Amino acid sequence: MKKIIATLLVSALPVFGFAAGGSYPLDKVNIDLTDKAAMQDGLKTFANYCLGCHGMKFQRYERVATDLGISEEAMMANIVFTDAKIGDHMRTPMTDEQAKKWFGVVPPDLTLVARVRGADWLYTYLRTFYADPSRPLGANNKVFDNVGMPNVLVALQGNQVIDCKQVPMVENGKKVFDPLTGAPITEESCDQLVVQKGTGSMSEQEFDETIKNLVTFLEYSANPVKLKSQRIGTYVLLFLVVFFVFAYLLKREYWKDVK
Ligand code: HEC
Repeated sequence: MKKIIATLLVSALPVFGFAAGGSYPLDKVNIDLTDKAAMQDGLKTFANYCLGCHGMKFQRYERVATDLGISEEAMMANIVFTDAKIGDHMRTPMTDEQAKKWFGVVPPDLTLVARVRGADWLYTYLRTFYADPSRPLGANNKVFDNVGMPNVLVALQGNQVIDCKQVPMVENGKKVFDPLTGAPITEESCDQLVVQKGTGSMSEQEFDETIKNLVTFLEYSANPVKLKSQRIGTYVLLFLVVFFVFAYLLKREYWKDVK
């Protein structure tokens, strides 16, 4: 039994290793796939800031409208900026040739990106672009080193730079507290992401919320049947419980005469 558990643990390791993806610690995000308002907000951000370069070729506008509770008119008026029709797939107007010329790489399709990268990775990635004059497009990223994507949300988040900041002091993995006041003791660290004041249209909380909603939309897109399959899973478990009771009673009935 121990051997089986050990084998299972070891085989699970590469999965965790990939999910972490690099050394930068990922911020956790709690996605709620029943929150339609969040997904609608995420769709709006996606159409405004991402669809220019990234398509969602397995996703139709019509299906998204139905799933997210948006009318066809609202979808056409607010989300579809190209000459696409409601039944079309969500494609980017940018051609692969243009992409290669401008960015050196073709921006990947994002329909399934949440399955590949995971929600925490996306949530961290989209909030950790920072100014880096050494890069061709002036931006770099904490979880995607030397990324080829420009910092497209800079107007919302503001100009993020690597700078000095007071952070909680940590000793042996634990925060250090002032014995008199009980407040955490801080120290200066000069490898921190800092948003320059007054450069973005959103506060930090508003920006985090916008990204959370965007990631919720990406998560929905990668798995539009997740809600349904979760429900089916519950029924299966319930059935197994009920079935077990009957199987047990039946067994007792049969063995009664044997004993
Ligand atoms: C101006 C074009 C452009 C826009 C707009 C843009 N991206 Fe990108 N994106 C790129 C390029 C180019 C890459 C490839 C980067 C690389 O491979 O170095 C990329 C990569 C990514 C990746 C990494 C994919 C992977 O798994 O390797 C994600 C996720 C992503 N973009 C999400 C977004 C989201 C979400 C938005 C909207 C907020 C967005 N992008 C807007 C050009 C763009």
